[in-house]
Amino acid sequence: MMRQCSKIFLLLLLSSGVFATEFAPGEVVQRFCASCHARGIAGAPRSGDVSDWSARLAQHSFDEIAERGWQGSRRMPPKGYCQRCSYDDFVAALEEMLPQQLLP
Ligand code: HEC
Repeated sequence: MMRQCSKIFLLLLLSSGVFATEFAPGEVVQRFCASCHARGIAGAPRSGDVSDWSARLAQHSFDEIAERGWQGSRRMPPKGYCQRCSYDDFVAALEEMLPQQLLP
């Protein structure tokens, strides 16, 4: 009986999406990143802006930039305030903000 219960509980937990990403495409950028990255608040590289992002990519690889953003640096808050974001959610948001031609 006990085993049965914990199995059902596990199934409920899995199907509730606790372990999966909770965000629709574009949602993280809209809800968390755009407030700073849309217009370059506090020196944030602007969404879709080739010169802002290529200046950074000239000095660091895509992975390094993703990692630095995740950790937070100077005026960039850790995870961009998206506490519920997994690292994959964060990287997906970064990919949406990068101009197409700069994607790795
Ligand atoms: C409160 C404002 C703010 C929010 C919200 C924010 N950022 Fe930033 N972000 C910045 C600023 C300012 C910088 C530039 C920091 C610097 O040069 O030290 C930055 C830099 C970055 C960088 C480059 C890091 C580097 O070292 O080159 C990445 C990647 C990044 N942000 C991703 C994101 C993502 C993804 C989100 C949303 C999940 C987000 N940011 C939300 C302000 C913000």
